[in-house]
Amino acid sequence: RTNTGWMECRHDIGTFAPGLLSIYESLKPSEDHMSKQSRLIDSLTKSVSKEWPNAQLHLYGSCANSFGTSHSDVDVCLEIDIGTGSEVELLLRLAEILRGDNFDSVEAITSARVPIVRMLDAGSGFSCDICINNLLAVANTKLLKDYAQIDGRLLQLASIVKHWAKLRGVNETYRGTLSSYAYVLMCISFLQLREPKILPCLQALEPTYTMVVDDIECVYFDEVHQLRDFGAENKETIAELLWAFFHYWAFQHDYRKDVISIRMGKIISKKEKNWTTRIGNDRHLICIEDPFETGHDLGRIVDRQTIRIIREEFERAAVMLQHDDDPCSTLFEPY
Ligand code: CTP
Ligand code: MG
Repeated sequence: RTNTGWMECRHDIGTFAPGLLSIYESLKPSEDHMSKQSRLIDSLTKSVSKEWPNAQLHLYGSCANSFGTSHSDVDVCLEIDIGTGSEVELLLRLAEILRGDNFDSVEAITSARVPIVRMLDAGSGFSCDICINNLLAVANTKLLKDYAQIDGRLLQLASIVKHWAKLRGVNETYRGTLSSYAYVLMCISFLQLREPKILPCLQALEPTYTMVVDDIECVYFDEVHQLRDFGAENKETIAELLWAFFHYWAFQHDYRKDVISIRMGKIISKKEKNWTTRIGNDRHLICIEDPFETGHDLGRIVDRQTIRIIREEFERAAVMLQHDDDPCSTLFEPY
């Protein structure tokens, strides 16, 4: 398998870079958005510390990993000693407190895989999800943020891919398509595999950061300012990379055998992960290894029907970037 594969990229692909960059710029959250977000966090912190002075709030997800857009929700993790109570009781109490402090449409969703309190901040229009003690998410948020600082093309590529996935309806985990987090991992893995490489494998370097969460050791090299020139030898533009990304997922990835792993910085096999057969509802039709929770396949929610939809979307995008006169608009047409 090679990076360029059997299809040669059109010679004028570079002419689409400016258009793609302006889409990327338009997705970035504004100053106003950021300050509204921090006001929301401040008032949330006040409400929480009145009741639980020792609790801590952490931001995670796209409001903290730098892959956020002006449409992103705010993900918050409450770090707290649950003691003898239960997580559900705590969430119900949290919802009560927030209602008392005049937050809008507060709802405790306790039946979800990750139980949360969800609320809508009417002032800013933000939707905000609060979960309890999900510190692995806090750790992987830092990992993504650190990768984003190494080469600017990761932010460009991942923002555009996330935007595309939302508009094309393939970013809905409750319907069996992939999470934003999964798409960012796919972009990191892809840039680790370019020739010359655009991103290193931070978990393969001498560790400078350690955080232990639920017996899982999250260790990696986080002094990323030392790696700012890492991808400099590779001159590919966002247009070439976006084409190659879709081309890879449409025509080159071996869905029967391959697992992408940013932890290893390479493709590994389903066989070595024991992900070759369906266990319960986990079908492993597209395999994306979580960098820390290595038994977790981010693709496990994908089923026979949605894998077909996702692959058709990759093919559509690859073909459009290859042949259309104006791919910067056709690519993002809502489905
Ligand atoms: N997360 C996780 N495991 C998953 C899904 C998500 O650990 N299977 C955590 C990650 O820390 C991720 C965060 O939850 O960064 C939020 O996930 P998601 O909403 O998919 O990503 P965002 O980056 O917040 O994207 P969006 O802008 O679409 O909100
Ligand atoms: Mg989010």
